[in-house]
Amino acid sequence: MGTGSGKGKVILFGEHFVVYGLPALAAGISSETTARLTRVRSFGYTLVDNRPAMPGYKKEKYEEQKASLEIILKHLNIDTTKMGFQIDLEGNLVCASGIGASAASCVAIARALNDEFKLGLDDEQINEAAYEGEKGYHGTPSGLDNTASTYGGLVWFERDLSGGAPKFERLKLDTAMYLVIAATGITASTKVVVGDVRAKKEANPEWFEQISKEYMRLVHDAKESLIKSDIERVGELMDENHELLQQLTVSCTELDNLVKIARENGAAGSKMTGTGRGGNMIALAPDEMTMKKIAKALENAKAAGVWTTSFGK
Ligand code: MEV
Repeated sequence: MGTGSGKGKVILFGEHFVVYGLPALAAGISSETTARLTRVRSFGYTLVDNRPAMPGYKKEKYEEQKASLEIILKHLNIDTTKMGFQIDLEGNLVCASGIGASAASCVAIARALNDEFKLGLDDEQINEAAYEGEKGYHGTPSGLDNTASTYGGLVWFERDLSGGAPKFERLKLDTAMYLVIAATGITASTKVVVGDVRAKKEANPEWFEQISKEYMRLVHDAKESLIKSDIERVGELMDENHELLQQLTVSCTELDNLVKIARENGAAGSKMTGTGRGGNMIALAPDEMTMKKIAKALENAKAAGVWTTSFGK
């Protein structure tokens, strides 16, 4: 039996911008997806998906999930016409748009295959296989999600638009940062939303250029502020990043509403995270007590799911 796991992630800064080579900051969270591979006597594979998930999520992603698994098998030269196995997906990561669920499962599956078939892959190669798998979910993944999922921790990430290896740096923080994550319960298709942004960018390149300039200033400030543990500034920049995402039209009323509630209840800053048009939002809390207060307020507002986590120290 082969086993493997991949972490969920939140994008602190830079979803969508990262697709076009701008830097992003993401943090791995403690919740993860696990994969268990068991050989069977027949040929082919069976995927049993027992991950906890937002209603509708698995159905929405079913075809993409199948495409993704087949890309990973091909990438790793595993021929299922000559053997058979079952992959069971489990874990405590609740699948929803924006939490890196697809990347976490790609990483978990690549690790389970590596374990069972003794492929001798290191983390870099696991990350590469998961990146290929992410292409099943949407054609042009930036690689940010699989990188955060493979390595965990806080990651500064830049995609190489000419197809080379991405640049990424693992950042160390002296202070713990407290986060609340809340779900709208709406599942969005990354492929559709990324495609929409691309169409808008192509229709109006000057508009996108202007927003990108503002984002560039913001993300460098965010990196420095995170390293200095300046929570107040990081929060302000998250608010600004949310506004830019609203301009890209990837936020929605449900996300804006949860963001507003988090700010009213003491968040240093709050924004949507990931694909948008549904999925999840995050709020940075100045301390643990405020984190709990924000979480309670979001629960009272009937968010579809609320979780607390921390990153950094
Ligand atoms: C999705 O979690 C993040 C996006 O930036 C797409 C990507 O990075 O591939 C929207």
